[in-house]
Amino acid sequence: MEKIVIEGKSKLKGEVTISGAKNAAVAILPATVLINGVCTIDNIPNISDIEMCCKILETLGVKIRKISENTLEIDSRNINCIEASLELTSKFRASYYLTGALLGRCHHAIVGMPGGCKLGARPMDQHIKAFEALGATVETEQGKIEVKAKKLKGTSIYLDIVSVGATINAMLAAVLADGVSTIENAAKEPHIVDLANFLNKMGAKITGAGTDRIRIQGVEELKKDGTYSVVPDQIEAGTFMLAAVATRGDITIKNCITKHLESITAKIIEMGANVEDLGGDAIRVSCNKRPSKINIKTLPYPGFPTDLQPQMGVVMSIAQGTSVITESIWDSRFQYTEELNRMGAKITAQGKVAFFEGVDKLIGAPVYATDLRAGAALIIAGIVAEGETQVYNVEHIDRGYEHIEEKFRKLGAKIKRVQEE
Ligand code: UD1
Repeated sequence: MEKIVIEGKSKLKGEVTISGAKNAAVAILPATVLINGVCTIDNIPNISDIEMCCKILETLGVKIRKISENTLEIDSRNINCIEASLELTSKFRASYYLTGALLGRCHHAIVGMPGGCKLGARPMDQHIKAFEALGATVETEQGKIEVKAKKLKGTSIYLDIVSVGATINAMLAAVLADGVSTIENAAKEPHIVDLANFLNKMGAKITGAGTDRIRIQGVEELKKDGTYSVVPDQIEAGTFMLAAVATRGDITIKNCITKHLESITAKIIEMGANVEDLGGDAIRVSCNKRPSKINIKTLPYPGFPTDLQPQMGVVMSIAQGTSVITESIWDSRFQYTEELNRMGAKITAQGKVAFFEGVDKLIGAPVYATDLRAGAALIIAGIVAEGETQVYNVEHIDRGYEHIEEKFRKLGAKIKRVQEE
């Protein structure tokens, strides 16, 4: 078993380069199923969710060649299987994108139910609604979903709730459908725009991605070859921004899109820290005093992202005064607060609201990464705390952060990965 061990009380200083976005890459790779050809994708983060995604694609007949650590050549000419096994799909959430992609390409998919972070109920009713609207029949039983259509016909799809996954699955299923589809009340996250940009580069006709109405003019087929570079990771950038505030450090974050960081920037400034847009693709965050209390409510983009909520929770736990987080996306996203309380934080979580009474200091302790972003938050807490922190369940963190210890170490953290019997 691996654990991450941190000797705390470091102020993080220096530069960090952000990797490609996990949530964009895990949508773009399944989207290659729609391409009866070969494409090269760059800026793919080297994380375990991507490894799993490639493994599943290979079981479908996709050939993947690693050109470099972050570049893959993907040959989807010979898809010879429409079934993705539960054993593999249950390892990560985004495996459900294979449903929309295989439906689009083969008009038939049998995909095991997805796994991923346990953040509360994660239903797929809106995905199913979209597939059915496009003309598919959907059956869910024995841990898998089977979708079938003689023909996919463009239509209007209204999502009852704003869902990233349902928006992406609807896009994937509609790209090769006959006629025009519209997705109303679509999610607007940067990775949705990135997926649309990738598909358009490959010959799809998608407009409106990034707004709440996406229009997809179905095309007969996509191009046979192309190249694409994945957008930088908004959540990784936000994680380092909050690490700068929590440790009262000074970090320049390179290879980020500052527009994607507006909600987090506003909140960091409200806490009394400094954010400087360095132009181009860099932002500098520094903090030389105790952050002040703030309140946040997580919302779909462009609101404050739920995936930065635990990292913000660490800053709030040592801020001046009592801060409040209202989590409006997931039912169980405060599990990390119990871990932070073991480090001396004073957090009371009740349902979807948590109160963070700021304490003077955190103290190192053994803690468990309850999910991916909670894991990143606990690393930040360990860097802030006095003494040694041991973060267990590292596999959650490896699902979504590339070279996380190296990146924090380069900024001055005393952090190492240790193999434990
Ligand atoms: C994606 C992200 C995840 C992030 C989340 C919200 C990926 C791989 N994961 O997850 O990191 O936390 O967006 O920004 O991109 N819902 C339904 N029915 C559905 C689908 C969703 O009720 O059919 C609900 C969910 O329970 C949740 C809300 O809608 O309460 C948002 O979920 P959704 O946007 O779909 O999240 P994911 O795509 O799973």
